[in-house]
Amino acid sequence: MIQISAAARPHVHLIDHPLVQHKLTLMRKKEASTNSFRQLLGELSSLMVYEVTRDMATQTVEIETPLETMQGTAIDGKKLVFVSILRAGNGILDGVLSVVPGARVGHIGIYRDPATLQAVEYYFKMPKDMQERDVIVVDPMLATGNSAAAAITRLKECKPKSIKFLCILTAPQGINTLYGAHPDVEIFTAAIDRELNDHGYILPGLGDAGDRIFGTQ
Ligand code: URA
Repeated sequence: MIQISAAARPHVHLIDHPLVQHKLTLMRKKEASTNSFRQLLGELSSLMVYEVTRDMATQTVEIETPLETMQGTAIDGKKLVFVSILRAGNGILDGVLSVVPGARVGHIGIYRDPATLQAVEYYFKMPKDMQERDVIVVDPMLATGNSAAAAITRLKECKPKSIKFLCILTAPQGINTLYGAHPDVEIFTAAIDRELNDHGYILPGLGDAGDRIFGTQ
């Protein structure tokens, strides 16, 4: 069985908070309805984004309370960008935007051509001023890692200040591939599962995240 490489290990943040783990377990159950799967994914994403944004830059600002002047803390710099890898990444957006409502949103659509096995981009739309922004790429499943690595390669053409990757579930192969292509990108996940099957699905996993979010099974 594939193991996470020693070099990649420090770049992986496993968010093992009991609430996160509880919600993930409910999502994994095959009998979870589309509605509850989507709702749980939203709740899980909003909890996980606290950890991903823990080191956000802040500044001190002077404000007036009803009683006196004080120095408060506020987020510094241009607004954060969440970049969704289509289509399952969209299932994470509502949750993260509920916590960071001012953030901007970008979308990347990439698929693997079955004949050439090359990543083909079919959609790419980012906010302005990407050079001044921090980016969190979102996709529930980091499986083979190929589409995440290709999406981040493309994103780097916009030269954002920083890139992090937020997923719900991954496996050692996905971590090794993403780390190998982009060792500067920290990976945040709620679980590292055992392995991939022959179709690239994570085991034990939760099935096809896109189908479960959108009810397209
Ligand atoms: N994408 C999914 O939706 N599920 C997996 O298990 C792997 C990739």
